[in-house]
Amino acid sequence: MSGKNLSGQVAIVTGASRGIGKAISLALAAEGMNLALTATQIGNLSEVLDLVRSLGVRAESFACDLANWREIPRLVNDITTCFGSLDVLVNNAGYSVRASLVETAPEDLERCMQVNAMAPFVLCQKLFPFLCRSQQATVINIGSVVAFKGYEQQSAYGASKHALLGLSKVMALEWKKYGIRVHSINPGAVDTEMIRQMRPGLDPQGMIGTEDIADLIVFLLTHRGRAVIDDIHMRRATGDPWY
Ligand SMILES: NC(=O)c1ccc[n+]([C@@H]2O[C@H](COP(=O)([O-])OP(=O)(O)OC[C@H]3O[C@@H](n4cnc5c(N)ncnc54)[C@H](OP(=O)(O)O)[C@@H]3O)[C@@H](O)[C@H]2O)c1
Repeated sequence: MSGKNLSGQVAIVTGASRGIGKAISLALAAEGMNLALTATQIGNLSEVLDLVRSLGVRAESFACDLANWREIPRLVNDITTCFGSLDVLVNNAGYSVRASLVETAPEDLERCMQVNAMAPFVLCQKLFPFLCRSQQATVINIGSVVAFKGYEQQSAYGASKHALLGLSKVMALEWKKYGIRVHSINPGAVDTEMIRQMRPGLDPQGMIGTEDIADLIVFLLTHRGRAVIDDIHMRRATGDPWY
């Protein structure tokens, strides 16, 4: 894809072990970006780490349970000590639970809020000084269609993605003066493990591909010009336009 050269820039991708995060990691590595990849366990990242390194970039894996925000300062310290600088943060890691509102356990609500909203919040706070030093600083938050529309059986997940959208809006405003761009990407059903658990009846054939999201992120980063795209809604081609 043509546009700005990303080679040598540093990106963090959370939830890089599979699904959308894996596709994003491969796409950014193909653009020459050096990568800090995170998941709950180092072992979960070994396959994607090998794939990314085979593209010739520097990549390291970091374990952190993002459900525990107290772990995040340590994660940030480990990554920034290792790479020294940061240009792009992709808040992709996500947790979902399929249950009606009445049946949702408080622990599940708590975990959704922690992983999907609180972790991006604290990560952004702690990485702010590093982002400020980049000429291309960008935060990309992977939201969801559930941040805009209610879905049955998704109250905890939907609430957490609404919270993430709120964070994206304020961060974009507050950090504009520092030249830090914030994008919110809000897909419908993407063909990953998560959607198979959340929407078991949905045909994978009609779903968004993980590479569609990755391509979009490469576009946003390489076409950083005088226009800014705040949020993107992406739906299944088989779904209805305008929801
Ligand atoms: N799939 C969809 O239809 C869809 C649609 C809209 C938005 N999204 C969003 O897209 C993002 C990626 O989703 P996906 O479909 O690729 O999901 P996925 O296949 O289930 O992958 C989730 C990723 O998040 C990581 N993760 C989960 N809990 C974590 C925790 N407590 N601490 C650290 N990392 C954790 C997982 O790491 P481990 O390997 O360590 O478990 C994994 O890398 C999520 O934010 C999701 O909400 C997905």
